[in-house]
Amino acid sequence: MKWMPRVIGAILLSFSALAMARPATSEPVEIAISCGAVGVELQLCGDAVRAWEAASGHRVRIVSTPNSSTERLALYQQVLAAGASDIDVLQIDVIWPGILAPHLVDLAPHVGDAAGQHFPNLIENDRIDGKLLALPWWTDAGVLYYRRDLLEKHGLAPPATWQEMTEVARAIQRAEREAGNRDLWGFVFQGRAYEGLTCNILEWIDSHGGGNFVGDDGKVTIDNAAARSALALAASWIGDIAPRGVLNYDEEAARGVFQSGNAVFMRNWPYAWALAQGADSPVRGKVGVLALPRGTGEGGKTTGTLGGWHLAVSRYSRHPSEAASLVAFLTSRAQQKIRAIRGAYNPTIPALYEDPEVLAANPFFGQLFDSFQNAVARPSSVTGVHYNRVSSAIWRAGHEILSGNAAADARLAALAVELNRIGRRGRW
Ligand code: GLC
Repeated sequence: MKWMPRVIGAILLSFSALAMARPATSEPVEIAISCGAVGVELQLCGDAVRAWEAASGHRVRIVSTPNSSTERLALYQQVLAAGASDIDVLQIDVIWPGILAPHLVDLAPHVGDAAGQHFPNLIENDRIDGKLLALPWWTDAGVLYYRRDLLEKHGLAPPATWQEMTEVARAIQRAEREAGNRDLWGFVFQGRAYEGLTCNILEWIDSHGGGNFVGDDGKVTIDNAAARSALALAASWIGDIAPRGVLNYDEEAARGVFQSGNAVFMRNWPYAWALAQGADSPVRGKVGVLALPRGTGEGGKTTGTLGGWHLAVSRYSRHPSEAASLVAFLTSRAQQKIRAIRGAYNPTIPALYEDPEVLAANPFFGQLFDSFQNAVARPSSVTGVHYNRVSSAIWRAGHEILSGNAAADARLAALAVELNRIGRRGRW
Protein backbone atom coordinates (compact mmCIF):
# COMPACT_ATOMS: atom_id res chain seq x y z
CA MET A 1 0.00 0.00 0.00
CA LYS A 2 3.01 2.30 -0.03
CA TRP A 3 1.79 3.87 -3.27
CA MET A 4 -1.42 5.11 -1.59
CA PRO A 5 -0.51 8.74 -0.71
CA ARG A 6 1.14 9.38 -4.10
CA VAL A 7 -1.79 7.88 -5.89
CA ILE A 8 -4.45 9.89 -4.06
CA GLY A 9 -2.96 13.10 -5.44
CA ALA A 10 -3.03 11.64 -8.91
CA ILE A 11 -6.66 10.54 -8.51
CA LEU A 12 -7.65 14.08 -7.59
CA LEU A 13 -5.81 15.38 -10.62
CA SER A 14 -7.60 12.98 -12.92
CA PHE A 15 -10.88 14.78 -12.31
CA SER A 16 -9.66 17.56 -14.56
CA ALA A 17 -9.44 14.98 -17.37
CA LEU A 18 -12.90 13.88 -16.44
CA ALA A 19 -14.30 17.39 -16.63
CA MET A 20 -12.85 17.70 -20.11
CA ALA A 21 -14.35 14.40 -21.19
CA ARG A 22 -17.68 14.67 -19.37
CA PRO A 23 -20.44 13.16 -21.48
CA ALA A 24 -23.10 15.40 -22.94
CA THR A 25 -26.04 13.41 -21.61
CA SER A 26 -26.86 13.27 -17.91
CA GLU A 27 -28.92 10.04 -18.04
CA PRO A 28 -26.87 7.28 -16.39
CA VAL A 29 -26.01 4.49 -18.83
CA GLU A 30 -24.12 1.20 -18.59
CA ILE A 31 -21.13 0.58 -20.82
CA ALA A 32 -18.71 -2.34 -21.02
CA ILE A 33 -14.94 -2.28 -21.30
CA SER A 34 -12.67 -5.21 -22.12
CA CYS A 35 -9.55 -5.23 -19.97
CA GLY A 36 -6.59 -7.57 -20.01
CA ALA A 37 -5.67 -9.65 -16.97
CA VAL A 38 -1.89 -10.01 -17.29
CA GLY A 39 -0.19 -9.34 -13.93
CA VAL A 40 -2.16 -6.65 -12.06
CA GLU A 41 -3.91 -5.26 -15.16
CA LEU A 42 -7.41 -6.28 -14.18
CA GLN A 43 -7.12 -4.82 -10.70
CA LEU A 44 -5.78 -1.51 -12.04
CA CYS A 45 -8.52 -1.37 -14.66
CA GLY A 46 -11.16 -2.04 -12.00
CA ASP A 47 -9.91 0.69 -9.67
CA ALA A 48 -9.77 3.27 -12.45
CA VAL A 49 -13.19 2.35 -13.76
CA ARG A 50 -14.69 2.71 -10.26
CA ALA A 51 -13.23 6.22 -10.05
CA TRP A 52 -14.86 7.14 -13.38
CA GLU A 53 -18.18 5.66 -12.29
CA ALA A 54 -18.15 7.68 -9.08
CA ALA A 55 -17.43 10.91 -10.92
CA SER A 56 -19.60 10.41 -14.03
CA GLY A 57 -22.63 8.66 -12.53
CA HIS A 58 -22.46 6.00 -15.28
CA ARG A 59 -21.94 2.30 -14.72
CA VAL A 60 -19.22 0.14 -16.26
CA ARG A 61 -19.11 -3.60 -16.72
CA ILE A 62 -15.65 -5.12 -17.10
CA VAL A 63 -15.31 -7.93 -19.59
CA SER A 64 -12.16 -9.94 -19.04
CA THR A 65 -10.39 -11.30 -22.11
CA PRO A 66 -7.73 -13.97 -22.81
CA ASN A 67 -4.14 -13.05 -21.91
CA SER A 68 -2.79 -13.99 -25.31
CA SER A 69 -2.91 -11.11 -27.78
CA THR A 70 -3.60 -13.63 -30.54
CA GLU A 71 -6.61 -15.16 -28.78
CA ARG A 72 -7.91 -11.73 -27.81
CA LEU A 73 -7.86 -10.61 -31.43
CA ALA A 74 -9.83 -13.68 -32.46
CA LEU A 75 -12.44 -12.90 -29.80
CA TYR A 76 -12.77 -9.26 -30.88
CA GLN A 77 -13.04 -10.22 -34.52
CA GLN A 78 -15.91 -12.55 -33.68
CA VAL A 79 -17.78 -9.96 -31.60
CA LEU A 80 -17.19 -7.15 -34.09
CA ALA A 81 -17.97 -9.19 -37.21
CA ALA A 82 -21.37 -9.89 -35.66
CA GLY A 83 -21.88 -6.15 -35.13
CA ALA A 84 -22.52 -6.92 -31.45
CA SER A 85 -22.72 -4.08 -28.96
CA ASP A 86 -21.41 -6.25 -26.08
CA ILE A 87 -18.18 -4.28 -25.69
CA ASP A 88 -18.16 -0.46 -25.92
CA VAL A 89 -14.51 0.23 -25.04
CA LEU A 90 -11.91 -2.15 -26.45
CA GLN A 91 -8.39 -2.52 -25.14
CA ILE A 92 -6.52 -3.00 -28.40
CA ASP A 93 -2.94 -4.02 -29.16
CA VAL A 94 -0.72 -1.37 -30.80
CA ILE A 95 -0.62 -3.58 -33.93
CA TRP A 96 -4.39 -3.70 -34.47
CA PRO A 97 -5.68 -0.30 -35.65
CA GLY A 98 -5.23 -1.37 -39.28
CA ILE A 99 -6.98 -4.70 -38.70
CA LEU A 100 -9.92 -3.33 -36.70
CA ALA A 101 -10.32 0.06 -38.42
CA PRO A 102 -13.74 -0.57 -39.99
CA HIS A 103 -15.20 -1.35 -36.57
CA LEU A 104 -13.89 1.64 -34.62
CA VAL A 105 -15.25 5.12 -33.95
CA ASP A 106 -13.30 8.29 -34.80
CA LEU A 107 -12.43 9.64 -31.36
CA ALA A 108 -11.25 13.05 -32.58
CA PRO A 109 -14.63 14.81 -32.21
CA HIS A 110 -15.02 13.40 -28.67
CA VAL A 111 -11.69 13.92 -26.94
CA GLY A 112 -10.66 17.50 -27.66
CA ASP A 113 -6.91 17.96 -27.88
CA ALA A 114 -6.11 14.91 -25.67
CA ALA A 115 -4.01 13.37 -28.45
CA GLY A 116 -1.47 16.19 -28.26
CA GLN A 117 0.03 15.02 -24.97
CA HIS A 118 1.10 11.54 -26.20
CA PHE A 119 4.23 10.39 -28.07
CA PRO A 120 3.55 11.49 -31.67
CA ASN A 121 4.52 8.10 -33.18
CA LEU A 122 1.83 6.36 -31.11
CA ILE A 123 -0.84 8.81 -32.24
CA GLU A 124 0.40 8.36 -35.81
CA ASN A 125 -0.06 4.60 -35.30
CA ASP A 126 -3.70 5.15 -34.28
CA ARG A 127 -4.62 7.56 -37.07
CA ILE A 128 -5.96 5.83 -40.15
CA ASP A 129 -7.37 7.71 -43.14
CA GLY A 130 -7.47 10.86 -41.05
CA LYS A 131 -9.46 9.25 -38.20
CA LEU A 132 -8.18 8.88 -34.66
CA LEU A 133 -9.19 5.29 -33.91
CA ALA A 134 -7.67 4.88 -30.43
CA LEU A 135 -5.76 6.66 -27.69
CA PRO A 136 -2.64 5.06 -26.20
CA TRP A 137 -2.99 3.65 -22.66
CA TRP A 138 0.49 2.31 -22.12
CA THR A 139 3.52 1.56 -24.26
CA ASP A 140 5.83 -1.45 -24.09
CA ALA A 141 9.31 -2.41 -25.19
CA GLY A 142 11.06 -5.71 -24.58
CA VAL A 143 13.73 -5.57 -21.84
CA LEU A 144 16.16 -8.02 -20.24
CA TYR A 145 15.68 -8.89 -16.58
CA TYR A 146 18.61 -10.43 -14.76
CA ARG A 147 19.49 -11.75 -11.32
CA ARG A 148 21.93 -9.17 -10.02
CA ASP A 149 22.70 -11.32 -6.97
CA LEU A 150 23.70 -14.34 -9.07
CA LEU A 151 25.89 -12.37 -11.45
CA GLU A 152 27.66 -10.76 -8.49
CA LYS A 153 28.08 -14.08 -6.70
CA HIS A 154 29.77 -15.58 -9.77
CA GLY A 155 31.82 -12.47 -10.51
CA LEU A 156 30.23 -11.94 -13.95
CA ALA A 157 29.34 -8.61 -15.57
CA PRO A 158 25.90 -7.90 -17.10
CA PRO A 159 26.06 -8.97 -20.76
CA ALA A 160 26.05 -6.51 -23.66
CA THR A 161 25.61 -9.01 -26.51
CA TRP A 162 23.44 -12.12 -27.02
CA GLN A 163 26.63 -14.15 -27.23
CA GLU A 164 27.77 -12.86 -23.83
CA MET A 165 24.32 -13.48 -22.37
CA THR A 166 24.45 -17.06 -23.63
CA GLU A 167 27.85 -17.60 -22.00
CA VAL A 168 26.96 -15.97 -18.68
CA ALA A 169 23.66 -17.89 -18.54
CA ARG A 170 25.42 -21.18 -19.25
CA ALA A 171 28.21 -20.58 -16.70
CA ILE A 172 25.83 -19.64 -13.88
CA GLN A 173 23.38 -22.41 -14.69
CA ARG A 174 26.18 -25.00 -14.60
CA ALA A 175 27.79 -23.72 -11.39
CA GLU A 176 24.48 -23.36 -9.55
CA ARG A 177 23.26 -26.80 -10.59
CA GLU A 178 26.50 -28.35 -9.41
CA ALA A 179 25.90 -26.62 -6.08
CA GLY A 180 22.45 -28.25 -5.83
CA ASN A 181 20.23 -25.53 -7.40
CA ARG A 182 18.79 -28.11 -9.81
CA ASP A 183 15.82 -26.16 -11.16
CA LEU A 184 17.80 -23.17 -12.34
CA TRP A 185 17.76 -22.24 -16.04
CA GLY A 186 19.83 -19.60 -17.80
CA PHE A 187 17.20 -17.82 -19.90
CA VAL A 188 13.43 -17.73 -20.31
CA PHE A 189 11.38 -15.87 -22.93
CA GLN A 190 8.12 -16.18 -24.89
CA GLY A 191 8.53 -19.18 -27.21
CA ARG A 192 4.94 -20.28 -27.66
CA ALA A 193 3.49 -20.03 -31.20
CA TYR A 194 1.65 -16.69 -30.87
CA GLU A 195 2.16 -12.93 -31.21
CA GLY A 196 4.61 -12.83 -28.29
CA LEU A 197 7.03 -15.06 -30.23
CA THR A 198 6.92 -12.67 -33.19
CA CYS A 199 8.00 -9.92 -30.76
CA ASN A 200 10.98 -11.99 -29.54
CA ILE A 201 11.97 -12.97 -33.09
CA LEU A 202 11.92 -9.32 -34.16
CA GLU A 203 14.32 -8.48 -31.34
CA TRP A 204 16.74 -11.28 -32.22
CA ILE A 205 16.76 -10.46 -35.92
CA ASP A 206 16.75 -6.67 -35.83
CA SER A 207 19.45 -6.58 -33.14
CA HIS A 208 21.69 -8.51 -35.56
CA GLY A 209 20.99 -5.90 -38.24
CA GLY A 210 18.49 -8.14 -40.08
CA GLY A 211 15.53 -5.70 -40.13
CA ASN A 212 11.89 -6.06 -39.16
CA PHE A 213 10.50 -8.67 -41.60
CA VAL A 214 8.85 -6.24 -44.06
CA GLY A 215 10.37 -2.81 -44.81
CA ASP A 216 8.40 0.44 -44.75
CA ASP A 217 8.31 0.22 -48.55
CA GLY A 218 6.49 -3.13 -48.32
CA LYS A 219 9.49 -5.25 -49.43
CA VAL A 220 9.89 -8.57 -47.59
CA THR A 221 13.34 -8.50 -45.97
CA ILE A 222 13.22 -11.58 -43.74
CA ASP A 223 15.53 -13.89 -45.72
CA ASN A 224 18.98 -12.46 -44.91
CA ALA A 225 22.22 -13.68 -43.35
CA ALA A 226 21.77 -11.72 -40.10
CA ALA A 227 18.28 -13.19 -39.61
CA ARG A 228 19.61 -16.69 -40.24
CA SER A 229 22.37 -16.41 -37.67
CA ALA A 230 20.05 -14.75 -35.11
CA LEU A 231 17.57 -17.63 -35.35
CA ALA A 232 20.27 -20.29 -35.33
CA LEU A 233 21.59 -18.80 -32.08
CA ALA A 234 18.09 -18.72 -30.55
CA ALA A 235 17.51 -22.36 -31.55
CA SER A 236 20.76 -23.33 -29.81
CA TRP A 237 19.34 -22.06 -26.49
CA ILE A 238 16.58 -24.68 -26.33
CA GLY A 239 17.55 -27.47 -23.98
CA ASP A 240 20.87 -25.73 -23.26
CA ILE A 241 20.18 -22.49 -21.34
CA ALA A 242 16.38 -22.49 -21.85
CA PRO A 243 14.05 -25.33 -20.86
CA ARG A 244 12.23 -27.11 -23.70
CA GLY A 245 9.04 -25.93 -22.05
CA VAL A 246 9.85 -22.38 -23.17
CA LEU A 247 8.33 -23.42 -26.52
CA ASN A 248 5.02 -23.10 -24.72
CA TYR A 249 5.71 -20.01 -22.61
CA ASP A 250 3.84 -16.74 -22.81
CA GLU A 251 4.69 -13.63 -20.73
CA GLU A 252 3.18 -14.94 -17.51
CA ALA A 253 4.75 -18.39 -17.79
CA ALA A 254 8.21 -16.84 -18.24
CA ARG A 255 7.57 -14.49 -15.32
CA GLY A 256 6.45 -17.42 -13.14
CA VAL A 257 9.79 -19.21 -13.65
CA PHE A 258 11.90 -16.07 -13.19
CA GLN A 259 9.99 -14.73 -10.21
CA SER A 260 10.17 -18.02 -8.35
CA GLY A 261 13.95 -17.77 -8.63
CA ASN A 262 14.50 -20.36 -11.36
CA ALA A 263 16.05 -18.30 -14.15
CA VAL A 264 19.12 -16.07 -14.45
CA PHE A 265 17.77 -13.99 -17.36
CA MET A 266 14.29 -13.26 -18.67
CA ARG A 267 13.03 -11.35 -21.69
CA ASN A 268 9.76 -9.65 -20.84
CA TRP A 269 7.87 -6.34 -20.89
CA PRO A 270 8.23 -3.72 -18.12
CA TYR A 271 5.09 -4.87 -16.23
CA ALA A 272 7.08 -7.77 -14.79
CA TRP A 273 9.19 -5.30 -12.78
CA ALA A 274 6.40 -4.27 -10.39
CA LEU A 275 5.60 -7.92 -9.69
CA ALA A 276 9.21 -9.09 -9.34
CA GLN A 277 9.63 -6.29 -6.79
CA GLY A 278 6.35 -7.11 -5.00
CA ALA A 279 6.32 -7.77 -1.25
CA ASP A 280 5.80 -11.53 -1.71
CA SER A 281 8.26 -11.98 -4.58
CA PRO A 282 11.14 -14.41 -3.86
CA VAL A 283 13.44 -12.32 -6.08
CA ARG A 284 12.55 -8.91 -4.60
CA GLY A 285 15.68 -6.72 -4.41
CA LYS A 286 17.72 -9.19 -6.49
CA VAL A 287 16.70 -8.09 -9.98
CA GLY A 288 18.17 -5.65 -12.49
CA VAL A 289 16.77 -4.49 -15.84
CA LEU A 290 18.88 -3.92 -18.96
CA ALA A 291 18.29 -3.02 -22.57
CA LEU A 292 18.14 -6.27 -24.59
CA PRO A 293 21.56 -7.51 -25.79
CA ARG A 294 23.14 -6.41 -29.05
CA GLY A 295 23.61 -8.83 -31.88
CA THR A 296 27.16 -9.59 -32.93
CA GLY A 297 28.38 -8.57 -36.36
CA GLU A 298 28.40 -5.29 -38.21
CA GLY A 299 24.79 -4.20 -37.86
CA GLY A 300 24.66 -5.25 -34.18
CA LYS A 301 22.51 -3.02 -31.94
CA THR A 302 20.01 -3.29 -29.13
CA THR A 303 16.38 -3.71 -30.20
CA GLY A 304 13.24 -3.81 -28.09
CA THR A 305 9.98 -4.52 -29.90
CA LEU A 306 7.40 -1.75 -29.61
CA GLY A 307 4.32 -3.06 -27.84
CA GLY A 308 1.55 -1.54 -25.83
CA TRP A 309 -2.20 -1.28 -25.52
CA HIS A 310 -4.56 1.45 -26.60
CA LEU A 311 -8.25 2.13 -26.01
CA ALA A 312 -10.80 2.33 -28.79
CA VAL A 313 -14.59 2.62 -29.04
CA SER A 314 -16.62 0.09 -30.98
CA ARG A 315 -18.74 1.36 -33.87
CA TYR A 316 -21.54 -0.81 -32.56
CA SER A 317 -21.58 0.88 -29.13
CA ARG A 318 -24.95 2.34 -28.17
CA HIS A 319 -23.20 4.98 -26.04
CA PRO A 320 -20.19 6.18 -28.03
CA SER A 321 -19.83 9.54 -26.31
CA GLU A 322 -19.85 8.04 -22.79
CA ALA A 323 -17.45 5.35 -24.02
CA ALA A 324 -15.13 8.02 -25.46
CA SER A 325 -15.31 9.90 -22.18
CA LEU A 326 -14.11 6.77 -20.34
CA VAL A 327 -11.26 6.41 -22.86
CA ALA A 328 -10.17 10.01 -22.27
CA PHE A 329 -10.26 9.47 -18.50
CA LEU A 330 -8.29 6.21 -18.51
CA THR A 331 -5.61 7.48 -20.90
CA SER A 332 -5.18 10.79 -19.06
CA ARG A 333 -1.89 11.83 -17.53
CA ALA A 334 -3.15 11.34 -13.97
CA GLN A 335 -4.36 7.79 -14.62
CA GLN A 336 -1.18 6.85 -16.47
CA LYS A 337 0.82 8.06 -13.49
CA ILE A 338 -1.09 5.73 -11.15
CA ARG A 339 -0.54 2.78 -13.48
CA ALA A 340 3.16 3.56 -13.82
CA ILE A 341 3.64 3.67 -10.05
CA ARG A 342 1.50 0.68 -9.17
CA GLY A 343 2.13 -1.58 -12.14
CA ALA A 344 5.26 -0.37 -14.02
CA TYR A 345 3.16 0.34 -17.11
CA ASN A 346 5.13 2.70 -19.33
CA PRO A 347 3.28 5.97 -19.85
CA THR A 348 2.60 7.19 -23.38
CA ILE A 349 2.95 10.80 -22.20
CA PRO A 350 6.58 12.00 -22.37
CA ALA A 351 6.21 14.37 -19.39
CA LEU A 352 5.69 11.42 -17.03
CA TYR A 353 9.24 10.20 -17.69
CA GLU A 354 10.44 13.24 -15.75
CA ASP A 355 8.07 12.69 -12.85
CA PRO A 356 10.14 11.93 -9.71
CA GLU A 357 7.53 9.55 -8.25
CA VAL A 358 7.29 7.57 -11.46
CA LEU A 359 11.09 7.35 -11.68
CA ALA A 360 11.44 6.36 -8.02
CA ALA A 361 9.06 3.43 -8.55
CA ASN A 362 10.74 2.40 -11.83
CA PRO A 363 14.38 3.55 -11.96
CA PHE A 364 14.87 1.82 -15.34
CA PHE A 365 12.26 4.08 -17.00
CA GLY A 366 14.89 6.82 -16.85
CA GLN A 367 17.95 4.63 -17.55
CA LEU A 368 16.34 2.92 -20.54
CA PHE A 369 14.46 5.94 -21.88
CA ASP A 370 16.37 5.75 -25.17
CA SER A 371 15.50 2.09 -25.64
CA PHE A 372 11.84 2.90 -25.11
CA GLN A 373 12.07 5.84 -27.53
CA ASN A 374 13.78 3.70 -30.16
CA ALA A 375 11.60 0.62 -29.80
CA VAL A 376 11.14 -1.05 -33.18
CA ALA A 377 7.62 -1.45 -34.54
CA ARG A 378 6.31 -4.64 -36.06
CA PRO A 379 5.28 -4.08 -39.71
CA SER A 380 1.61 -3.58 -38.84
CA SER A 381 1.19 -0.20 -40.52
CA VAL A 382 2.61 -1.29 -43.87
CA THR A 383 0.78 -4.65 -43.93
CA GLY A 384 -2.43 -3.16 -42.46
CA VAL A 385 -5.34 -5.56 -42.44
CA HIS A 386 -2.99 -8.46 -43.34
CA TYR A 387 -0.71 -8.05 -40.33
CA ASN A 388 -2.05 -11.02 -38.39
CA ARG A 389 -1.46 -13.38 -41.32
CA VAL A 390 2.07 -12.03 -41.66
CA SER A 391 2.77 -12.44 -37.98
CA SER A 392 1.31 -15.93 -37.76
CA ALA A 393 3.50 -17.03 -40.68
CA ILE A 394 6.48 -15.62 -38.75
CA TRP A 395 5.71 -17.21 -35.41
CA ARG A 396 4.96 -20.58 -37.05
CA ALA A 397 8.31 -20.55 -38.86
CA GLY A 398 10.13 -19.37 -35.73
CA HIS A 399 8.52 -22.07 -33.62
CA GLU A 400 9.58 -24.79 -36.05
CA ILE A 401 13.15 -23.50 -36.06
CA LEU A 402 13.30 -23.29 -32.24
CA SER A 403 11.77 -26.76 -31.91
CA GLY A 404 14.51 -28.21 -34.11
CA ASN A 405 11.99 -29.26 -36.78
CA ALA A 406 13.45 -26.97 -39.44
CA ALA A 407 16.83 -25.38 -40.17
CA ALA A 408 16.92 -21.58 -40.04
CA ASP A 409 18.28 -21.20 -43.60
CA ALA A 410 15.69 -23.24 -45.45
CA ARG A 411 12.77 -22.17 -43.28
CA LEU A 412 13.48 -18.44 -43.66
CA ALA A 413 13.66 -18.82 -47.44
CA ALA A 414 10.24 -20.54 -47.38
CA LEU A 415 8.88 -17.85 -45.07
CA ALA A 416 9.96 -15.12 -47.50
CA VAL A 417 8.04 -16.89 -50.29
CA GLU A 418 4.96 -17.10 -48.06
CA LEU A 419 5.14 -13.42 -47.02
CA ASN A 420 5.62 -12.34 -50.63
CA ARG A 421 2.53 -14.31 -51.58
CA ILE A 422 0.46 -12.64 -48.82
CA GLY A 423 1.83 -9.27 -49.93
CA ARG A 424 0.98 -9.84 -53.60
CA ARG A 425 -2.55 -10.94 -52.81
CA GLY A 426 -3.06 -8.23 -50.25
CA ARG A 427 -1.37 -5.59 -52.46
CA TRP A 428 0.49 -3.79 -49.71
C1 GLC B 1 2.49 -7.25 -24.87
C2 GLC B 1 2.62 -6.07 -25.82
C3 GLC B 1 1.81 -6.29 -27.07
C4 GLC B 1 2.23 -7.60 -27.70
C5 GLC B 1 2.05 -8.74 -26.72
C6 GLC B 1 2.57 -10.04 -27.31
O1 GLC B 1 1.20 -7.31 -24.35
O2 GLC B 1 2.21 -4.88 -25.19
O3 GLC B 1 1.99 -5.23 -27.96
O4 GLC B 1 1.54 -7.86 -28.90
O5 GLC B 1 2.76 -8.46 -25.54
O6 GLC B 1 2.40 -11.09 -26.43
